[in-house]
Amino acid sequence: MDTQAKAVTIGVFDSGVGGLSVLRAIRALLPQHPVIYLADQAHVPYGPRALEEVRGFAEAITRFLLGQGARVIVVACNTASAAALYHLRATFPEVPFVGMEPAVKPAAEQTQTGRVGVLATPATFQGALYASVVERFASHVRLYQDTCPGLVEAIEAGDLDGETPRRILERALQPMLAGGIDTVVLGCTHYPFVIPLIQSIAGPGVRVIDPAPAVARQTQRVLEQRGWLAPSGQTNTLRFFTSGEAERFKAQVQRLLGEHEAAVEKVVWSGGEVKPASSTIVLTSRT
Ligand code: DGL
Repeated sequence: MDTQAKAVTIGVFDSGVGGLSVLRAIRALLPQHPVIYLADQAHVPYGPRALEEVRGFAEAITRFLLGQGARVIVVACNTASAAALYHLRATFPEVPFVGMEPAVKPAAEQTQTGRVGVLATPATFQGALYASVVERFASHVRLYQDTCPGLVEAIEAGDLDGETPRRILERALQPMLAGGIDTVVLGCTHYPFVIPLIQSIAGPGVRVIDPAPAVARQTQRVLEQRGWLAPSGQTNTLRFFTSGEAERFKAQVQRLLGEHEAAVEKVVWSGGEVKPASSTIVLTSRT
C-alpha cells in the first residue's frame, strides 16, 4: 500500500470562508494529508447566534466529516470553538480536535505598550474559553475588544478592501489606536483575509496576529502524537463541502486560495443533520 492511500484525513470546518485562512496554513505545512473542508454557509454568520445553537451545528458537522473519513477535526472557527470545543471532545472522546481561541497569550507576551486589541465575534467574547485565556495570560494587559458587526458578512460577500469593511474596521480600530495598542489579535478566522486593510488603518507599528500557522503546527503535533503523521511527499487531495451554493463557494475558494483542483459538493441540513446533496461541481486548476 502506498503512503498516499494511508495518510489520515483532516476534517476542517467553519461557518463560511473564514476557515480557508486556516486551511491555507494546513496545506502549506501538511500537504501530504488529504483534507475535507465544510463551510456551513446556510448558517453564516455564527457570531451573533446563541452558543447552544452553534454547538448543535458543530456536533452535526463533526458527525458528517467523520462519516466522510476524517480522523482529526480542526474547528477552524473561533465561534464554534467557543461554543462547542469542550462538548465535542466529550461527545467524540476518540477523536482528536484542534480548536481555536483568540491568540491573547502571544499578544500579551509581546506587547510593549501593554495594550492589545482583540477582534472577534460576540459569541467568542461570551464563551468560557476566552474568559479563561484572558484570566490566565492577560490579567496584566489592557484589552480593547470589538465585534466588528458586519465584517464577516462583507468578507463572505467578497468585499475585502471596499468602503464597508474599511468603515467597520476604522470604527473598531480608531479607539484602540488612540488607547495605544501595538498588537491586534484576529479572533475570527475570516479576518486574516482583511489583514492588508487592517494594516493600512493601523499602520506599520502595529503587529497583527493571525493564528492560522500556530493552528497548523498544533494539527501537526496532534498527528505526530498519534503516530499518524504521514511522510512528506506528494500533495494529497482536497475536497470542499458547503451548505450554501456550491457555485458561489467555488468562486470564493478560487479567489481566496488561488486555483485548486478539488471538488465542491453541496450538503443540506435535514432534521438537524448534514447530508450530502446531489450536485457536484469540479473545480479545475489552470496550472
Ligand atoms: N470564522 C468564524 C470565527 O472564527 C465565524 C464567524 C461567523 O460566522 O460569525 O469566529
